[in-house]
Order: sequence, then structure tokens, then C-alpha cells
Amino acid sequence: MPAPATQFADRMRTMRPSTIREILKVTAQPEIISFAGGLPAPELFPVAAVRAAADRVLTEQGPAALQYGPSEGVPALRQWIAEEMQARGIRARADDVLVTNGSQQVLDLVGKILLNPGDVVLTENPTYLAAIQAFQTLQARFVPVPTDAEGLIPEAVPELIRRHRPKFLYTIPTFQNPTGITLTPERRARLAQIAAQHGLPVIEDDPYGKLRYRGAEIPPIKHWDEADRVLYVSTFSKTIAPGLRLGWVLAPAEFFNQLLIVKQAADLHTSSFDQRVAHAYLTDNDQTAHLQTIRQAYGERFGIMDEALTAELPAGYTWTRPEGGMFLWVTGPRELDGLALLQRAVENKVAFVPGRDFFPGDAGANYLRLNYSNSTPERIREGVRRLGRLCRG
Ligand SMILES: Cc1ncc(COP(=O)(O)O)c(C=O)c1O
Repeated sequence: MPAPATQFADRMRTMRPSTIREILKVTAQPEIISFAGGLPAPELFPVAAVRAAADRVLTEQGPAALQYGPSEGVPALRQWIAEEMQARGIRARADDVLVTNGSQQVLDLVGKILLNPGDVVLTENPTYLAAIQAFQTLQARFVPVPTDAEGLIPEAVPELIRRHRPKFLYTIPTFQNPTGITLTPERRARLAQIAAQHGLPVIEDDPYGKLRYRGAEIPPIKHWDEADRVLYVSTFSKTIAPGLRLGWVLAPAEFFNQLLIVKQAADLHTSSFDQRVAHAYLTDNDQTAHLQTIRQAYGERFGIMDEALTAELPAGYTWTRPEGGMFLWVTGPRELDGLALLQRAVENKVAFVPGRDFFPGDAGANYLRLNYSNSTPERIREGVRRLGRLCRG
């Protein structure tokens, strides 16, 4: 007799495997030029400096670095993060910083402390695919906030609050994933004000804010957060390396205490060793110079992709021109089927992510997300040439 089928939890019925992860398996082949993954440029990882930092940590604090540590995070790293955020115009104390296993973990923890099945989350439309997945695991419902070329429209939020009673708003206001769009300072201030008026928690996810290659710096929404409604989330994945899996959330005390409880239940704490290595690396090396190198490379790569798209894509295609980050967003003619194009693209050894999966709500299929940080200038030109040929049909 066959064994009875495994009874998985109800929530697994709503979960779908990520198209991006599936595509990345194929695009790992070196002959494929991939604009698909959200990967930083590996040749810019500070490998020698991280090696030296790891060596110093093991020499000077070996047993402590290999021991269990506090769930909040290593104090010296929390202090470094708080000071860095102060420099960006945020009121931050080390006590309000929770160090996490990448910023992705914050999304899971925030969802756990705020969402019951069926609860509503307000998001941009499109938004970060893995945020949809994190909140979907908790059986959230998504309500998109209307957006335009300057990001989400704050004036639309009060009506959505009234109609849907959302638990929180999730936003990536700077060099958004997937569109590259940045919310204006006026809208940031307005959003913070609306959040305060309505008591709406705002999750500000900011992995790319420090990757600006042109234009003037804009403070995070958290800068305008007089009422302690904003949880600011960031990461070392794009400024040091994602393999360290180090992120953090700056959370008002009310949220911090709850987050700490679920963090302990999830994994006790983030790697003591990695946190100490990151701290040693950050204090021993000139961060301004390192960031400048990354910004310059990404700015150059964006410029090359923009130029190549202008030369190769036919009429009917438009794309965003972000001032930082790692992605741009192509809108094709209404009849374009991004997934079908991807299949032909992979046969022609070039890849991207079709836009459909980034929409929690309904949307057309005529969008593509292109990553420019992870390919050399030559491969960007060649990849866009191949893509252009397919788009011209
Ligand atoms: C918007 C956004 N949030 C969060 C993450 C997760 O990053 P990590 O967990 O590496 O910090 C990413 C990664 O690409 C992202 O694009």
C-alpha cells in the first residue's frame, strides 16, 4: 500500500517557486550573458581586505568570534551601523539596531510580528519579488499603491488605508527593485506625515541607497519620521558582499522588542564571526573609496546599457534611467510576452527577468528587468545586441 501523502501546511498552497531562481540555474552557464540575477560585480568584492579582517578577528578575538553571541547583534557592529545612519540624516541609536541574516530576514521577521493570514500589505506595483514571497508565506494579501515615474503617490495612501486597513506599507524608495525609480524628497516627507497621521507602519527597504552614481543624495524616508512609524532596513550585501549575509533593521522600541523575540526563535543570532569580520573590515578600510569604485563601475555600466538599448531596441520600447542601483526596467509594446521572449533569449544565450512576477496585483506581461552591475561592458554591449535582434523580431 502506498504511504499516505505528506500533509503540507495550508500556506504552501499559495507559494510558487521563484522564476528568477529557476532562470538563474540556466544562466549560471558562462556562455549565457545574464542580465537576470540581482548580483553585484564580484570583481569588486574586497576579497583581500576581508581575508585580512578575518585573520585579525581570529587572532585578536578568536574564541568570542566562534562563540554564541547576543541576538541583537555584536555591539561594535550595531554602533558602527548607528553612526553610519546618523551620517545619512537619521536619528539612530545602537540599541535600536537589530543585525539580521541579510535584509531578507527582516522581511520575514516583520511579516511574522505584524501579519495574520489574510492581512493586507500595501506595496509598490511592481515590487521586490522576494518581498512578495516573504509576505505570501504568511498568507498576506497585497494591495498596490498607484505609482508614477517618481514612485508611489502618497496622496493615494489614506484612501487605501480606509478601504483595506493594511498592517503596513512596504516600499523601496531608492533605486527600486525592479524599476530603478527613486521617490522624491517631497513625497518621502509626505509619506512619513501620512504614516504618522494614520499610525501606519512603513517598512523602508534600502539596499541600494549608497549606490548612487549621479544626481544629488536624498535622505531616507526615516529622516522625516518624527512619529517613529518607519522601520528602516538595509544590508551590507551591495556594499561589501552578499555572501556575508549581513543586514539590519533600525526599529522603534515597540517593534524592536517583538522582532527580537521572533529573531531568537528563528536562528538565535546572526553569525558572530561574520559580524566581527565585517566590523574589522569596515574600521580598517576606507569605505568612501570602496563605494566610489562601485558607484563608478555601475554608473559606467548603466551608461553602456542605456546607449546599447538606444541603438538596438525598436520603437515601442522605453526604459527607466536610474541614478543608481543595479537595475533598469524596460516597458515593451502591449502585445510583448516577456516570458516567451525569455525562452527565445536563452536559446540565443542572453537572459533577463520577465516583469510579470514583480507584480503582486494584475499587470501586463510586457516588462523586462535588466541588471547591469554584474556584466562587463563588452558583455553588456553583446547581450543587448542579441536582445535587440530578438525584439526586432
Ligand atoms: C529590495 C531588496 N530587498 C532585500 C534584498 C535582500 O538582500 P540581502 O538579504 O542580501 O540583504 C534585496 C536583494 O536583492 C533587494 O533587492
